[in-house]
Amino acid sequence: MATLQEEIQKRRTFGIISHPDAGKTTLTEKLLLFGGAIQTAGAVKSNKIKKGATSDFMEIERQRGISVATSVMTFEYNDVKINILDTPGHKDFAEDTYRTLTAVDSVILVIDCVKGVEEQTEKLMEVCRMRNTPVIIFINKMDREGQYAFDLLDELEQKLGIKVRPLTWPINIGANFKGVYNLYEKSLNLFSANKTKIEKEVVSVDIWSEELDKRVGERDANQLREDVELIEGVYNDFDRAEYLSGEVAPVFFGSAVNNFGVQELLDTFTQIAPSTQKRQTDTRIVEPDEKKFSGFIFKIHANLDPKHRDRIAFLRICSGVFERNKFYKHVRLDKNVRFNNPYNFMAQDKEVIDEGFPGDVVGLYDTGNFKIGDTLTEGESMFYQGIPSFSPEIFKELINLDPMKAKQLEKGIEQLTDEGVAQLFTQSHLGNRKIVGTVGELQYEVIQYRLEHEYGAKCRFDHRDIAKACWITSEDPKKLAEFVRLKGQQIATDKDGNYVFLAESDWILRMNIQNNPDIQFHFTSEFK
Ligand code: G4P
Repeated sequence: MATLQEEIQKRRTFGIISHPDAGKTTLTEKLLLFGGAIQTAGAVKSNKIKKGATSDFMEIERQRGISVATSVMTFEYNDVKINILDTPGHKDFAEDTYRTLTAVDSVILVIDCVKGVEEQTEKLMEVCRMRNTPVIIFINKMDREGQYAFDLLDELEQKLGIKVRPLTWPINIGANFKGVYNLYEKSLNLFSANKTKIEKEVVSVDIWSEELDKRVGERDANQLREDVELIEGVYNDFDRAEYLSGEVAPVFFGSAVNNFGVQELLDTFTQIAPSTQKRQTDTRIVEPDEKKFSGFIFKIHANLDPKHRDRIAFLRICSGVFERNKFYKHVRLDKNVRFNNPYNFMAQDKEVIDEGFPGDVVGLYDTGNFKIGDTLTEGESMFYQGIPSFSPEIFKELINLDPMKAKQLEKGIEQLTDEGVAQLFTQSHLGNRKIVGTVGELQYEVIQYRLEHEYGAKCRFDHRDIAKACWITSEDPKKLAEFVRLKGQQIATDKDGNYVFLAESDWILRMNIQNNPDIQFHFTSEFK
């Protein structure tokens, strides 16, 4: 039997992130094909919200279904256990993605070579940088007329604030794309459009040999020689330590839909990507090979059957061995809980497991005990950190449309916000006014629809003129109480009872920060 240490070394838990349409779903599918987790292309469904053909509500349900099925995809490749954590592409669900990024050890970032760095890419990278998450970049769609490779690399460095280091290099682009040269193995991988089968033609070629001219033609061979010289001159040698500390991102070029460049990516990934990492709690750093189990909940998903309100909580194991039917401490509730049917996720299936190891994600049936960020341990009182709530971008007041269903509405909004669909701020001094903050309009549709269908409560959302919500603290409790009293309308509490300042504009926020030096304003909830 493998030791705990061996189990840890074997695991690579990561997320694939991209701006929508760059090719995340396609790349995920090809990785699963290589890993033998699926047999045919088309098995992985896009979790994109598609507008148009069906009603938005149907689309939301479809998306939720897919999102459960593909939340975690696990397979073995070359004796490495790979856990891919799925991240929603739609920007309105970005918070879900940010939270998932707290449960990974590294990331593969997909870039469309035509569009370069897009809005969502920048935001996602910001979150990676906050946590120094190691990133590998895959520049996709090389079969399209994209940007010049050196320009793309410059753009990546400038917009993403990270150093890059190409590990493969393209020979032409678009209609003339001939393949990539592997700068480390000094081999040539020739391109042939192939959407389904896994085949590749790789030859070891000395870049100065005539063989190269024969393979790609004299003009392209000379260009490649020039490019490689330039790369060696401009970029430092690839240093794994720099990659692991999040300073340098190795870059690959390919075409996911054509299955091209994916195997190089996967092979290198399994060699260089970090296995399960240590993690910070509020009291100390926890090493994965500690004997005692600990982990945290990073995602909660409501069951699709509205008649049963049980939910699935996604537990990321951080240390020790997680065992079925064993009692663990639910730190926030200070009570012992155990799980009869924990399961792990296969590509399209799930199976009940008896144990799980650090790096694994386990699905737990939940009847309302969990909130995102909850920690489970073997008795120690500590909380995993790094699961902040970000200040939402849109704020609306929840208005009850059916006074007979006030309780249902209350319960529904509590549970949905526990799942992390949105953030809830309550103004208890103003008759318990409820302000719902999100990062996108779509979430209000989701909430309204689910409140009605799962809780039987009808509601409306009224726009509120709020630009930012900031968590506020002070070393002097009296000063905080005074500020809260003075600001009245602009004060609310979050679900954990922390005070939040609701600013109508950035200007008002700035003025308040300036005029109240004793009050600290925080843009994420992680300020303890
Ligand atoms: P996402 O999950 O990041 O949102 O992107 P997804 O994989 O769904 O890919 C978006 C579109 O880009 C898809 O086309 C997909 O086929 C295409 N695509 C992915 N990789 C490549 C590539 O290497 N080259 C080219 N030319 N296209 C690529 P679609 O028309 O939106 O959908 P579909 O009907 O083709 O599936």
